Amino acid sequence: MTVPEPVLTAARAARHVLVLTGAGMSAESGVPTFRDAQSGLWAQYSPEELATPQAWRRDRAFVLAWYLWRFGLVATVEPHAGHVALARWADRNGQHVTVVTQNVDDLHERAGSTAVVHLHGALSGWRCEACARPYRGALPNVPEGGDRVDPPRCPTCGAAIRPGVVWFGEPLPADAWQEAVDRTEAADLVLVVGTSGIVHPAAGLPSVARSAGAVVVEVNPVETEISHVAHHTWRETAAVALPALVDAVSGHGPAA
Ligand code: OAD
Repeated sequence: MTVPEPVLTAARAARHVLVLTGAGMSAESGVPTFRDAQSGLWAQYSPEELATPQAWRRDRAFVLAWYLWRFGLVATVEPHAGHVALARWADRNGQHVTVVTQNVDDLHERAGSTAVVHLHGALSGWRCEACARPYRGALPNVPEGGDRVDPPRCPTCGAAIRPGVVWFGEPLPADAWQEAVDRTEAADLVLVVGTSGIVHPAAGLPSVARSAGAVVVEVNPVETEISHVAHHTWRETAAVALPALVDAVSGHGPAA
């Protein structure tokens, strides 16, 4: 795999690298993206119909089953070579690498990345929908082939336990968003990996980076809403491009 020369040059020169990832970063681990055809039970639903406070209030059992299905899927898959490459790159030759992810899975952390900012929350962050206390109790199993399961109740106030993810229309965690903006503004290089660039404000970060003077590189097999913001577009997948880039940066792999 040959790394495009301008991408490699920018990666070698960067002191602060920011990697903005979306569902495409998890695709080669086996987790379906949001806007590819959803598999099985959920094929006819879009995230916009499921990941909203309205959907939750309308049918908590149905929305919970969808999240538990994704939660179960993530628990069975492994980080791929792209996740591992990012973790390996961090803090080598004095380069600092921060991952800002829209994903709610923990694949970056399981690969060894330590500087990870979750813009849309995390599957593990279950909490009470009313008093917001974190919930660490048992989670129900989705019945085989079922698509509904009643949420557990908060031990403190008795309200329903909800997924710790950001739904459409909800604010991003303020501290996560501020850190993402700060890191983006400080970056020399921003890699945008596996996102369609449809959901704001996350999708606005590449423009923030470009305005702040960073080199913006998109790693995605197809054109996206962000492609026009990138200085360089690398039409490759995450699990192929990232290991090749990190090997080339550390001098272990083929240059262009
Ligand atoms: P999408 O499903 O919208 O986009 C996934 C992107 O990954 C697409 O551009 C694909 O071309 C690309 N892709 C697929 N396979 C890839 C691979 N192997 N390597 C690299 N890229 C690949 O997912 P997101 O952009 O992450 O928000 O969606 C953003 C948000 O919309 C999510 O965080 C979620 C969703 O609704 C909330 O739930 C609030």
